[in-house]
Amino acid sequence: MSSHQPESVLLAQQLAADPRIAQAKALLVSAVRDHQSSLQQVRGPRPELVSDYAAKVAKFEQLRGGTLYFPYLSSGLGNGPYVELADGSVKLDFITGIGVHGMGHSNLDLIDAGIDAVLCDTVMQGNLQQNEPSVEFSELLVKLALESGGDLQHAVLTTSGAMANENAMKIAYQKNFPAQRVFAFDNCFCGRTIALSNMTDRPGYRVGLPATTVVDYLPFFDYRDPAGSLARTMAVFERQVARYPRQHAILWMELIAGEGGYYAGSPEFFQTLAGRARELGIAVICDEVQSFARTNRPFAFQHFGLDELTDIVTVGKITQVCATLFTTNYKPKPGLVSQTFTGNSASIMAGLKILRGLQAGGHFAQDPGQSRTMQLHNEFVTGIKAIEAKFPGSLNGPHGLGGMVGLTPFDGSAAAAKDLTMRLYEAGLMGFVAGDAPARVRFLMPLLVTRSEHIREACGILEQVVAQMVADRQG
Ligand SMILES: Cc1ncc(COP(=O)(O)O)c(C=O)c1O
Repeated sequence: MSSHQPESVLLAQQLAADPRIAQAKALLVSAVRDHQSSLQQVRGPRPELVSDYAAKVAKFEQLRGGTLYFPYLSSGLGNGPYVELADGSVKLDFITGIGVHGMGHSNLDLIDAGIDAVLCDTVMQGNLQQNEPSVEFSELLVKLALESGGDLQHAVLTTSGAMANENAMKIAYQKNFPAQRVFAFDNCFCGRTIALSNMTDRPGYRVGLPATTVVDYLPFFDYRDPAGSLARTMAVFERQVARYPRQHAILWMELIAGEGGYYAGSPEFFQTLAGRARELGIAVICDEVQSFARTNRPFAFQHFGLDELTDIVTVGKITQVCATLFTTNYKPKPGLVSQTFTGNSASIMAGLKILRGLQAGGHFAQDPGQSRTMQLHNEFVTGIKAIEAKFPGSLNGPHGLGGMVGLTPFDGSAAAAKDLTMRLYEAGLMGFVAGDAPARVRFLMPLLVTRSEHIREACGILEQVVAQMVADRQG
């Protein structure tokens, strides 16, 4: 067939247009559809698979040198928010690898993208050799970032949220040299490199590591006392600036505390703080590795009206491939940022599908009431509040923001959060813990495939489990 094509058509385009590819795709997709179609609700394990499964999990734990949070091993097949495990059970996945699987499991569009990726000449893309989807993905991220007055003109791709954050730190340090101190929020989580473990506000995560970064912690927004909280945070900020003049390079902001327990700040709080940092030439960095695409806007900095105050932003998780976006003012010198792997072809193509899916599916809207993500939030939180009303003191708010839904079970102890999470898992609903004192349970629904019936099923499971916990506590 290639002999009839005009010369300007690339061989790769001819391959993509080859009817055999379309036929093969159609066959694969229809096979997956047939086999996944019975995955429509939660079910328990198959008794004959239970002991083999336990042995596989134990072997995996032994190989990793540590336990898994839950005994989760997927069979490799799912359907929307449902996933079949290797013991034959079916779970309703409302945690999605901590916000990664935005299109759920065995999504037919992502399988289609995956086939295109497999047909790419290389599995991996990297700084030296990239394919066109890397350009498209970077272009789409920048286009979304510029939507409402932001100035983030550049995007560098990378394979993990931690690496995106490291790149952000390096870019800011280089520009603001010789300043080296960092402002970050109490209770923040930034990632697990040595520098980021230094910044993350969890002493247990940096035991035995060298101190590399001097961090001045700022109190995060307190939803119970917005004005007092802003005043307290600004007072600490100003005191540290006066104590260490011109020594701060970075204001690091996680706009919705993720690992910290799903607490959001307010526009006024962030705008005041970022505005003052900007006056002092301190780089304003928003870590959106967890919160990107979880509000009514693509970026959380847009949701909080920080378009004109953000110098650098990082994204990850639902994007499948991570990225650091920055303004021209913060463009790094050659040699500072580079990597063998910027992402594999399947991740980049899947990331594109997911971002375009979120755009087309009405998840992003200026008016929060019009955003599909915010509507899903409202449906889920309405269900959670109804359970809380039946069992007062069981599932306390605040309930997070947008696609990040959280609650404090019972007395807020770590034991209560873990007990609820594990009982939910056993009953078929997957969530995860977050935060400390109070400990919380969080959910990250697969935004593109969650429908009302899934939320009803999730709330049904939650209610049963809470009823049992209440009964156990009374007994
Ligand atoms: C806010 C935030 N930043 C950074 C990271 C690190 O991302 P990764 O685990 O992909 O390195 C995470 C991961 O949970 C995160 O939630």
